[in-house]
Amino acid sequence: MNSTAVAAAQESSESMALLRRAVERFRTRSTDQAPAPMQLEVSAYTDPERFAREVDAIFMRLPLGLALSLELPGPGSYRTLNVMSTPVLLVRDRDGVVRAFLNACRHRGALVCEQARGKAERLVCPYHAWQYDLQGRLTGLYGESTFGDIDKSRNGLVALPCAERLGIVWVALRPGNDFEIDEWIGPFAEPLASLRLEDWELFEQRDIAGPNWKVVWDGYLEAYHHNTVHPQTVGRYTIGNLLLHDTYGPHQRIVFARRSLAEIVDQPEDSWDPAPHIRQIHSVFPNLSISGVVGDHCLVSQVFPGPRVDQTTTRQTVLVAREPGTDEERAASQAFSDLVLRAVRDEDYRIGAGIQSALAAGANREFTFGRNEPALQHYHRTVARFAAGS
Ligand code: FES
Ligand SMILES: [Fe+2]
Repeated sequence: MNSTAVAAAQESSESMALLRRAVERFRTRSTDQAPAPMQLEVSAYTDPERFAREVDAIFMRLPLGLALSLELPGPGSYRTLNVMSTPVLLVRDRDGVVRAFLNACRHRGALVCEQARGKAERLVCPYHAWQYDLQGRLTGLYGESTFGDIDKSRNGLVALPCAERLGIVWVALRPGNDFEIDEWIGPFAEPLASLRLEDWELFEQRDIAGPNWKVVWDGYLEAYHHNTVHPQTVGRYTIGNLLLHDTYGPHQRIVFARRSLAEIVDQPEDSWDPAPHIRQIHSVFPNLSISGVVGDHCLVSQVFPGPRVDQTTTRQTVLVAREPGTDEERAASQAFSDLVLRAVRDEDYRIGAGIQSALAAGANREFTFGRNEPALQHYHRTVARFAAGS
């Protein structure tokens, strides 16, 4: 077997193992569980000082999965993002390496690239036309002889720590907060690799406003609400309250089972095909969820805390296995995209807005995460660990 065949065999045996676990949970009407329920004080969702500390210790310090490799499709392609008030410029150099910079000219701070995405041979500031190469070096000044002496080597774009792995561009939002990407991803590399993120195509991308970061993110980590909140959308075919849960350091994989599982429980195992019966969600700490791989579609969600404790922005990216070639394929992709938008914006975030409005009233001193919500427990413990600086 060549290495691709070996990887495919490993993946299919991993999916079979998950399917076996899901069938066992289905047969016994059970779910993966934490050892005990856990309580978390509501100030974890409301306290502006705690919020600022956590944003600083987590979102500004750790590598974030900030973009997908496929958003920078070739040499010279660039992508700009405004991430939590930080203007970021991602550029793929001629040699294929992706670099991240603060998108701010060293002359007087204009955005060097104003478009969300594009392709360039070099980067020219729109204000007074200072020029940078694709590695961020200042290479030329308009009217250089009139400007006066300036050390070009000290006026390149400010680099942000950046690495590309597994179809994801990882960036730390503060200069100098270097990271070892392989260490950060750790054993989660294998499950992430099975998604082959670099092979998909971008279909649609949009930003959705929502309430507090943890109110929002909690909804991405359990199956307990699926049948109640999403009976007409993403929960329609899901078995509510059945969850498989695995942790990989701070990261997690959760698996939902589909109702179609009932059709195979009495069939011999060698006739099973995992793909139609389970849904895997890969949750990269602290805010990237890759989910809903449904046949030829995939949903990537990134949740960024807003400037205030009660605000977030979610970037929702819909991927397709290949560019739709026919009207029918396009309609199917559009239907998937519309469905996940509805499920998240009109269902999850509607519930979230309600929670947000009640938080201030002080109805709860604590929130409780059940034994059947192990991924939430792991997440909140991980937040606390990083906020404490360990
Ligand atoms: S601000 Fe960029 S060239 Fe002046
Ligand atoms: Fe949901």
